[in-house]
Amino acid sequence: METLTIAIAKGRLGKKGLKLFEETEYAIEMEEDSRKLIFNNANKTINFIFVKPCDVVTYVEKGVADMGIVGRDTILEENKDIYEVLDLKYGKCKFVVAGFENQDLVKKNEVLKIATKYPSYVYSIFEDRGQKIEIIKLGGAIELAPLMGLSEVIVDIVETGTTLKDNGLVVLEELDPISARLIVNKVSYRFNYEEIQKIEKVLGERR
Ligand code: PRP
Repeated sequence: METLTIAIAKGRLGKKGLKLFEETEYAIEMEEDSRKLIFNNANKTINFIFVKPCDVVTYVEKGVADMGIVGRDTILEENKDIYEVLDLKYGKCKFVVAGFENQDLVKKNEVLKIATKYPSYVYSIFEDRGQKIEIIKLGGAIELAPLMGLSEVIVDIVETGTTLKDNGLVVLEELDPISARLIVNKVSYRFNYEEIQKIEKVLGERR
């Protein structure tokens, strides 16, 4: 049987994903405190690789990984040619436009400045709205941008809403819902259909 490779997003989301495999034939054999980036299950039918979220979709699109576990925020931002086959139903949050209360999202003949970690996604959301925008790409702490006058609004993920609230910001518009997803390479899905279906079923039952 062919060994399948599953790319896992480093961090909380990936760790929770690995938990879904626990006590199944796909359970990962971890070595504590190891800096290794490739691990297997006991019978070596699966390679698990650990990469940055945005690289999960790249590995899967290129077929180097057959499957991946990653947040839908990354899938929407990266817009890669892959199948999204299963909602793993954890890591739930949503994309929103946020800013100060009463901030208008329509500014006639003026540029609306939007700070975000997700520039391609923001572009796709606003491209048909007829509103001129400037996208300001930041690496984190996005809520700071309106407070410091760097942007008027932000597009970011909101989970509990605490970060917005603590910084005096509000949701101005709700966008896409987000959660962890199982993604699959299109060619691999055809050639390894049975095995991938089996993994999908295991995850579907345990999510
Ligand atoms: C994310 C997101 C928000 C916050 C939302 O940031 O960018 O800032 O979580 O969560 P909440 O609605 O529960 O408050 P993250 O913690 O990933 O750090 P970052 O600001 O460095 O991106």
